[in-house]
Amino acid sequence: MTGPRGDYLEQIRRGGADLPPELAAAFAKVPREAFVPDGFQRRDGSWVRPADPEFLATVYSDDVLVTKVDNKIPVSSSSQPSLMAIMIMALRVTPGLRILEIGAGTGYNAALLASLGATVTSIDVQEDVAVRARAALARAGVSGVRVEHGDGYAGRPGDRFDRVIVTVGIGGVSPQWLAQLTPGGFVLAPVKHAGTHPVLVVSGPPGGPVIATPVCPSGFMLAAGPLTADHPGAFPSPAGPLPELSPVAPPRFDPPLDEIAYRDLWYAAGAWSRRAAHVAVPGRDQGCLALLDESRTDGAVIYPDGSIHTGNSADLVPAAADILDRWTAAGRPTMRAWRVSFTLTGDPAAPIWAPDAWELS
Ligand SMILES: C[S@@+](CC[C@H](N)C(=O)[O-])C[C@H]1O[C@@H](n2cnc3c(N)ncnc32)[C@H](O)[C@@H]1O
Repeated sequence: MTGPRGDYLEQIRRGGADLPPELAAAFAKVPREAFVPDGFQRRDGSWVRPADPEFLATVYSDDVLVTKVDNKIPVSSSSQPSLMAIMIMALRVTPGLRILEIGAGTGYNAALLASLGATVTSIDVQEDVAVRARAALARAGVSGVRVEHGDGYAGRPGDRFDRVIVTVGIGGVSPQWLAQLTPGGFVLAPVKHAGTHPVLVVSGPPGGPVIATPVCPSGFMLAAGPLTADHPGAFPSPAGPLPELSPVAPPRFDPPLDEIAYRDLWYAAGAWSRRAAHVAVPGRDQGCLALLDESRTDGAVIYPDGSIHTGNSADLVPAAADILDRWTAAGRPTMRAWRVSFTLTGDPAAPIWAPDAWELS
């Protein structure tokens, strides 16, 4: 592709999405800039506006474009294109497919789905976001997408869908989505696991049993409302910054695990320990896998090189070492090797199906 879109498709491929021709054509055709007419926030907190010289080059890069911020926290965005591509491929879109999207955001993902011939209903909990997505879709000349305002937990009662795609991080799946699926349909959703949001293909009747297989790692902002309700089996989040860490077990991977393999180890850690979490470690750009202690202010941190570091949680070090031993002995299984079963939990007035047990297939 030439012109302002530069090597957009190449960047998406380098991000891990092996684009089939129809999807490459959709990314080439749908104008992403139409969905960010007011600009977006850079990672350093400054804003890129349409008049800025770097606007189009950044729009056509494999990066998240944050479009709305509340108290410095991103609350709406256009997701990373390679992640959108991997999720769209997992949806197996064919012309005429009816898709429910939870998290309309800018409307760009819905436009890509419509460009593949799907009919899309997209819901966003923020009214202004839904209004802007509707306007963007009209400006880009996209038909076949209906945008609604509301909490996506309810889906669209009375309607039926072949797929549900969730583009916001959730703690569990709404039984209402399962009830609105046609036979053979499934939900594709980033469901919280050890502080991250791996994307799962989830299926089953609304009353269960509900099962899933993981597709890929992801980083999504968190959903509002009952979709992220706390529940007894939820993984812990750090309650504050960790103390200064010291190494207590030497590296065991040379070279260190790459990003994908580290996420595979992380997935296994969540399957084997309810203490597994995402922590920020001073001096490291990327978050790390840790087993948090009861106070959630200290723990045993596992680095990508397999070394273990802790503040004052020596008692958690054997459990961290055991995870490394088990994962290595099992042949370093990928996250796709796991089968997940769910339990109904969360707010009794609006329950969710949350992951509860994991088995290597
Ligand atoms: C990452 S953005 C979605 C990206 C979007 N699909 C796109 O292509 O631009 C997440 C969106 O989910 C919305 N959201 C958060 N909680 C929600 C909920 N409970 N129901 C519906 N939408 C929700 C947010 O308002 C936000 O706009």
